[in-house]
Amino acid sequence: METKVSEIAAGIYRLSTLVPDIAPPAGFTFNQFLIDGDEPMLFHCGHRQAFPALAEAVAHVTPVERLRWIGFGHVEADESGAMNQWLAAAPNAQVAHGALGCDISLNDMADRPPRALAQGEVLDLGGKRMRWLATPHVPHGWEAGVFYEETTGTLFCGDLLTHVGDGPALTEADVLGPAIAAEAMFHAMCMTPATGQILRELADLAPRTLALMHGSSFAGDGAAPLRGLAEFCEAGGPPA
Ligand SMILES: [Fe+2]
Ligand SMILES: [Fe+2]
Repeated sequence: METKVSEIAAGIYRLSTLVPDIAPPAGFTFNQFLIDGDEPMLFHCGHRQAFPALAEAVAHVTPVERLRWIGFGHVEADESGAMNQWLAAAPNAQVAHGALGCDISLNDMADRPPRALAQGEVLDLGGKRMRWLATPHVPHGWEAGVFYEETTGTLFCGDLLTHVGDGPALTEADVLGPAIAAEAMFHAMCMTPATGQILRELADLAPRTLALMHGSSFAGDGAAPLRGLAEFCEAGGPPA
């Protein structure tokens, strides 16, 4: 399988691998993001089996051993599976996650101690500023959270607005409709009384780029699809 590398915002690279067997005939992409800076960060580790191909893709942008930070939104195979392989390949790298995720999982699961981030804390990469925002159970997982890169206005949405297909790396087209269709297919999101409010708070950041883990990244008024997703969740989400 081929991993495509594209720059979606200044110094932010999307690594994208299409898996045709998931949701055929459209297929399903797994995307990681490399945030370049004095202290480069990889957001999403990928599955363990994908590690060799992903390490090769990272090396097109920067030497793997330069990686300083490893991030992901929640603990799950596609998000965090290869975490320890990255830690082994990049001796100065450290996992950065919300304090809750460190307490409940990562202090135990990560081969080196993770950096625990408080709500709203900024990780200064030198040229990029990654703000941690805890979003419990949004899209799923008690420890869930997102990063917002302040200098480019890029929100790393993880599974939020997931959609199928192998579209362009970056699109200005509608992502909400395809995301609602995918949610009806997968039922991946937790719908709690707080889901809509948490999504509205992310929309209030007014992101200019949405970096999506599955599907095309979005350029434009990032608040609009996040508010649309909030409305969809507040209305109860897809039919059971
Ligand atoms: Fe997930
Ligand atoms: Fe995912």
